[in-house]
Amino acid sequence: MKQPTEIRPATGKLGVLLPGFGAVATTFVAGVEAARRGLAKPIGSLTQMATIRLGKRTEGRAPFIKDFVPLADLDDLVFGTWDPIPDDGYASALNAGVLHKEQHLDPIKDFLSSIKPMSAAFDPGYVKKLDGPNKKKGANKRELAEAIRADIRRFKEENGCDRLVMVWCASTEIYVRPGPVHETLESFEKGMEDNDPGIAPSQLYAYAAIMEGIPYANGAPNLSADFPALENLAVEKGVPIGGKDFKTGQTLMKTILAPGFKTRMLGLNGWFSTNILGNRDGEVLDDPESFKTKEVSKLGVLEHILQPNMYPELYGDMYHKVRINYYPPRGDNKEGWDNIDIFGWMGYPMQIKVDFLCRDSILAAPIVLDLTLFMDLAGRAGMKGIQEWLSFYFKSPQTAPGLYPEHDLFIQHWKLKNTLRWMMGEEQITHLGVEYYE
Ligand SMILES: NC(=O)c1ccc[n+]([C@@H]2O[C@H](COP(=O)([O-])OP(=O)(O)OC[C@H]3O[C@@H](n4cnc5c(N)ncnc54)[C@H](O)[C@@H]3O)[C@@H](O)[C@H]2O)c1
Repeated sequence: MKQPTEIRPATGKLGVLLPGFGAVATTFVAGVEAARRGLAKPIGSLTQMATIRLGKRTEGRAPFIKDFVPLADLDDLVFGTWDPIPDDGYASALNAGVLHKEQHLDPIKDFLSSIKPMSAAFDPGYVKKLDGPNKKKGANKRELAEAIRADIRRFKEENGCDRLVMVWCASTEIYVRPGPVHETLESFEKGMEDNDPGIAPSQLYAYAAIMEGIPYANGAPNLSADFPALENLAVEKGVPIGGKDFKTGQTLMKTILAPGFKTRMLGLNGWFSTNILGNRDGEVLDDPESFKTKEVSKLGVLEHILQPNMYPELYGDMYHKVRINYYPPRGDNKEGWDNIDIFGWMGYPMQIKVDFLCRDSILAAPIVLDLTLFMDLAGRAGMKGIQEWLSFYFKSPQTAPGLYPEHDLFIQHWKLKNTLRWMMGEEQITHLGVEYYE
């Protein structure tokens, strides 16, 4: 990737297109509006709250990221969504049950009610536990993709947007393996015409976005833009893409803890993770085929952080199990338990128990915001194809073919900030620091 020589300014409106208007998407949109009205703070968002050190520690230069790189302003965001369930933003947020009605939804009811989802390219064959009436009709999948493209153009025109970004916030689809249909643009377009079962709705949105020159990020674990046909199309069209699966909850904890064990050369022979959650996402994941997609995304993490091939004595015999249990009384307030069996000096065993009473959508919303703003930045900087520097936000980061993903949250964070420095022509920070002792 070439170092940007210039970054176009973030002038005008940025349209944020969200396939899926459920818990995560409504929590994100409501939080942005609350921040704009000064009713709440965008906590958890690096673009809004983090600083970045520049130069030497003695220079005292640490601006906010948003003052260092040219990002779109929150006031310039406008939102468009698709969902087979026709609820407007207020009704959907109430149903999701994440934010307090009186404290956080009623004060912005006018705004939330004004966002109504466009008809979705939805097929219940790919999300078994859901259905809704707000769906597109088409003779084949290509027609559905073209209808999404028409929606995109109309939305841009009607809202006077300068630029757009798309972030998939819809349900986890069933597990689909990449096959011959995903190899080239020709095979993919022919596959859409033939209604190939390997082409799920999320792929149609990704295709539509890339064809329209819009950056695309995938917040769910299903196959969406992570196959050769769309990866190559993104490069050809000069569009940034990234995925997949927002890194929240238990996997966030895993990518915080596991690098700690590894750096101290502590062994690990077992990690059992179980969750109870009762939101719509939990219901969708109760279907074994959707769970399989999630499981694959969650399991890769430890393998890549701990590198059992390089450290067989410490991690060669590790048992990793992940369970998700749908339990309606809990709603969006998930509880995740981890039992971690580690061992230390002379092989003595120890146990760590983590009980994380988390709120999934509260952790996911700032990720949607940061991905929106950073993807838009990448687009204006002429960066195209897979944006590995945004791995920080994903459970299962998309990488160049043949390259293993970096899962360690701290390496990902370092990579993200160094990329921002690189984009702006600032020196990389290596943390070597010998110059302070000369
Ligand atoms: N909440 C988290 O912390 C978190 C973390 C990682 C990933 N995710 C993923 O983000 C996604 C959204 O999570 P959520 O909690 O908001 O779920 P949700 O069930 O509340 O919302 C998803 C919405 O997507 C809609 N949808 C399904 N298929 C669609 C299609 N083809 N087109 C348009 N809309 C469609 C559904 O009708 C639903 O309203 C899920 O895939 C989830 O696995 C969430």
